[in-house]
Amino acid sequence: MDSEIKDKIPAGAAEILERLRDAGYEAYVVGGCVRDCLLGRTPADWDITTSARPQQIKELFKHTVDTGIKHGTVTVLHRHKGVITPYEVTTYRIDGEYEDGRHPKQVSFTSELSEDLRRRDFTINAMAYAPGEGLVDLYGGVKDLEDKVIRCVGDPEERFSEDALRMMRAIRFSAQLGAEIEKTTWKAVCKMADNIAMVSAERIRVELEKLILSPEPGRFRLFYESGLTRHFLPEWEGCVNTTQENPHHCYNVSDHLLKAVESVDRRETAEDYPEDTERVFRLLRLTMLLHDIAKPLTKTVDEDGIAHFKGHPELGAQMAEEILRRLKYDNDTIRGVSHLIYHHEERFPADRRSVRRALNRIGEEYFPMFFHIQRADMRAQSTFMRKDKEQRLKELRELWEQTLADRHCVSLKTLAVKGADLMAAGMKPGPEIGRTLGRMLEDVLDEPSHNDKEYLLKRYLP
Ligand code: CTP
Repeated sequence: MDSEIKDKIPAGAAEILERLRDAGYEAYVVGGCVRDCLLGRTPADWDITTSARPQQIKELFKHTVDTGIKHGTVTVLHRHKGVITPYEVTTYRIDGEYEDGRHPKQVSFTSELSEDLRRRDFTINAMAYAPGEGLVDLYGGVKDLEDKVIRCVGDPEERFSEDALRMMRAIRFSAQLGAEIEKTTWKAVCKMADNIAMVSAERIRVELEKLILSPEPGRFRLFYESGLTRHFLPEWEGCVNTTQENPHHCYNVSDHLLKAVESVDRRETAEDYPEDTERVFRLLRLTMLLHDIAKPLTKTVDEDGIAHFKGHPELGAQMAEEILRRLKYDNDTIRGVSHLIYHHEERFPADRRSVRRALNRIGEEYFPMFFHIQRADMRAQSTFMRKDKEQRLKELRELWEQTLADRHCVSLKTLAVKGADLMAAGMKPGPEIGRTLGRMLEDVLDEPSHNDKEYLLKRYLP
């Protein structure tokens, strides 16, 4: 176990530990990095905890930043071969009473490592390690990691009243590690779920996203079962109660949404987007989470008892925009998800002209994502007509590949005539230029060989 951590500690962190220890202080790597090493993963960040006070830390290192000096955190900048790596070094502390479920009113420093570990959220996150000394596991973190259990350190209600976000963290870690949440910890989540209202949208977004990108995003249902979604995604409640009486479906809306999220596969995403896998994977999974969010509001049942959801892609695109804005997502993500939801249900014939038109409507950048979305949607439906649906997607994909190979024009970007050409030919600047280019593009979408400057100018200029 020792070497699992020791061999992974980067030179910078090892040097910082050594300098603190040589000066007579205690110092350990702590928290997430220890957990990740024991799981055989390579940690992204290495946090250090020490008995030295912030001023003492600053005296030992030349380059430091006062990141959170009030809370005992100093960032030490470690320079190696011209590369600067920041390490957060925090004095052992006991958190005081929290004023808003997030910020402790005051922290007091302590000289005991055990006190510092005791204020941490889960046993798997409350372990420390120092070379030469080994692992410090006072609360059964190793066993809980082995048994795959998420358990609060000490009293769960206390831990969650210190920081309400920890309730979402419990569920997120369970999805990342395929772990179960221990009974009293889970009971406390359910009891205290309303406190999540005190937590900022930005912090909620981070946890939601880590869960969505995890190997078991279906554990999102725990957000619902505990009562947390009521606060950060109230739209979800209706999805749980909306059944889909339709041969294409076998799940209610919320289960369908989660199956669809699970059906977006990272490896398949990487095949189409080798350079940009993580961005696209995130966009696809978020899209699937919300793609049918408007179904509860658009459901009708016809005289044969079949459910329909007319207009749900358009309304869903609008709702997704509002939801993601509320969760403080960036504009690119909001635009991408809402665009994909708007188009997610489009059905068009598998012929070259229809594919060119769809490429124009959906956009060249989004078109391959559209396949991933329709495939994930299909995988989360009943098996009714599954073969036909798969065949259609395969044909559309081949037609798209041919269109790319033939370099057919599907947007104004590659139209042989530009606005400047129209002006050079005597047209006045104004909206007529746009309209003329639009007519030319329509023609070229119907007949790609018409993408010829001479032909287009002759045909469309008076
Ligand atoms: N921590 C905590 N309560 C929180 C957040 C963090 O007790 N609400 C403690 C845990 O010991 C955690 C450590 O601070 O391991 C570092 O937190 P952070 O970097 O946010 O998370 P990690 O546990 O490292 O996990 P991840 O990197 O996956 O977010």
